Amino acid sequence: MSAPVAYSRDQIRLHWAVVALIAAQYLLHQPITDQMAALRASAPAPFDPAVALHVFAGLAIFGLALWRAFLRVFRGAPTPTKAGPGWARWTTRRSHDAIYALLLAIPLTGAIGWFPSWTDAAALHVALQDWLLAVVIAHLALVAYHHLALRTGPLERMRRPEA
Ligand code: HEM
Repeated sequence: MSAPVAYSRDQIRLHWAVVALIAAQYLLHQPITDQMAALRASAPAPFDPAVALHVFAGLAIFGLALWRAFLRVFRGAPTPTKAGPGWARWTTRRSHDAIYALLLAIPLTGAIGWFPSWTDAAALHVALQDWLLAVVIAHLALVAYHHLALRTGPLERMRRPEA
């Protein structure tokens, strides 16, 4: 199967939907962090819709990440640019792999930390979301480097679907 020349409309929509949901998870996590602390202290933790929102948005991210991975394998993705030094190509590929792995591992550890209340999994969930933040910052730096220094048009690739 030859690689497509551009991302499909679905791949682009999924990318930006996941970005929006992840931003919401980082901005609106305080209620679930507070409830987890209450549960650890055996204090009352009444139903809070903001907590449910974190859980549903997280599960949606898990489903959308699986869908993206499926499309990447079965529909394909445009061949990565050959421009630039080897380290930039290597870090770009590895940062994409790490993002996929974390988008699956973070909701899984969150779900195990929340539903059976396994606190070690919740602690891992918290540690992994710090890793995701670090990888996303590296991803943004690489996009800026490709856009500004190499001029390979990475933003255009995530904006214009294959005709
Ligand atoms: C990719 C999806 C997700 C992201 C990016 C995410 C992000 C976060 C963030 C930023 C925090 C705050 C960590 C801190 O206090 O420093 C948090 C806490 C938490 N999240 Fe998630 N989350 C996701 C999915 C989920 C899911 C699916 C569940 C449950 C079904 C969940 C359950 C929890 C719990 C229980 C906490 C509190 C952990 C603790 O304080 O020990 N998360 N999450």
